[in-house]
Amino acid sequence: MEPTVKIGPTVIVIFGAGGDLTWRKLMPAIYNLYLDNWIPEHFAVLGVAHNDMTDNEFRKHINEGVDKFSRRGKSKKDDWKSFEKYITYKKGDFGDTTTYKTVKKQIDQFEKSWGTPVNRVFYMAVPPSFFEEIATMIGKNGLSENKKFSRIIVEKPFGHDLESAKHLNNLLHGLFDESQIYRLDHYLGKETVQNILAFRFANAMFEPIWNRNYIDHVQITVSEQLGVELRGNYYETAGALRDMIQNHLLQLMCLIAMEAPVSFDADEVRNKKVDVLNALRKFKPEDVHKTAVRGQYQDGWIEGKKVIGYRQEPDVDRSSNIETFAAVKFYIDNWRWQGVPFYVRTGKRLNETISVITIQFRPVPHHSFPVETTENWQPNRLILNIQPYMGIRLRFQAKQPGLKMLLNPVDMLFNYSDAYSGGTPEAYETLLLDIFRGDATLFMRADQVEAAWTILMPVIDAWKANSSPNFPNYDAGSQGPEDAEALIARDGHNWIVVPLEKNDHEPTK
Ligand code: BG6
Repeated sequence: MEPTVKIGPTVIVIFGAGGDLTWRKLMPAIYNLYLDNWIPEHFAVLGVAHNDMTDNEFRKHINEGVDKFSRRGKSKKDDWKSFEKYITYKKGDFGDTTTYKTVKKQIDQFEKSWGTPVNRVFYMAVPPSFFEEIATMIGKNGLSENKKFSRIIVEKPFGHDLESAKHLNNLLHGLFDESQIYRLDHYLGKETVQNILAFRFANAMFEPIWNRNYIDHVQITVSEQLGVELRGNYYETAGALRDMIQNHLLQLMCLIAMEAPVSFDADEVRNKKVDVLNALRKFKPEDVHKTAVRGQYQDGWIEGKKVIGYRQEPDVDRSSNIETFAAVKFYIDNWRWQGVPFYVRTGKRLNETISVITIQFRPVPHHSFPVETTENWQPNRLILNIQPYMGIRLRFQAKQPGLKMLLNPVDMLFNYSDAYSGGTPEAYETLLLDIFRGDATLFMRADQVEAAWTILMPVIDAWKANSSPNFPNYDAGSQGPEDAEALIARDGHNWIVVPLEKNDHEPTK
């Protein structure tokens, strides 16, 4: 594949180079960008962490990660040999000025030998407790001065609540321009998520009906079979609302609900998204129990395997009140969406791993067909499958073949793997490439992050103030707590999950 946008000479400095994110995601993504010819001739990865490692030991460690996690599988020897020369490692303490002086010296050397200014990308692949320290040290040591060429990447979670997010934004704004700050939400780099914009704004036929006149409600489900794994320490400070809804699910909702951008300029797209967050109806503290549901998994069975409950997981308090499931009903108070509920839910240790958005249309205004012909009648639905299957399903009514007039729902499918051949880039490939190019469209702006926290604060506060009396309240391997069914059933709906399998042309139940 030939790159269409040329990337200038670039050095990416990864703080936390010995960690999981670097190993599983960042380096496999950079390696795939290299294989796809996106990496410029002058390029370097500088890993920084406290571990004692030589360049070669670090390269070997990274190679193992690439072999294990790259979408292309095990690396070819020759490819890896020509790639690994880009990688070097520096042992350093994040709180020590010497670390940053060494990094600066190294970048200056690259600049000198390449004879051209280089993009400096500082990636904080570290737990959030280090963000402040590293950002401050980068700023203090003159590494952020070049506004055009320096970029800092902040992984989620961005803050722990509204106040801490504001604090972090203020701190970053004291050191960097907003244009230098890339707040990363990896969902925005997923192919299917980017496709929501293409689907909505590159087609004429959906936009006229994309509003309260035709859409009954919207559902967004991100369900995971995985538990908290070894992230108990982090998860005990987060929970499903902070970990998933504040960022990934609200961003999906913005893409579904936003107005058409005038252009794909980064600020234009982000303005339209933040408009959605600002239009979300504020939760009254006394109503939180009616609009938000929380759950925590107990032991159960997933695909024939017994799994432990959340409170038994490593580093989790045995009487923890942290939610591993959250469902929330939102309203968007604007002309387009007035009165249309958006139901979102996410949870760990659920029965399946699937991310799906369902747009349910209003029923037809008048049934012309006799009742007996329409027993299986279902409203039109548009189902956007984000993962693991990637595709779009449009459900409508059809006449069953036969001498009688009988109607039933059928599906029209668009399946990525049928329509396109070739590999699909991982979210981190897309996002890293955008960072190298200096395109912030898929990254969170300060006001977006703060607006997302603002809307959730009443729920966070209410849940903090009142421990859930019935935790744990759902079995691992189930669909979540019963309260989540009740949340949507009260409005006469139910949660719809329709996996889109490859070559699945059967109508779903
Ligand atoms: C992360 C969350 O942001 O997203 C994890 O911290 C979650 O808890 C993960 O498992 C889900 O991402 P994906 O890409 O696997 O859907």
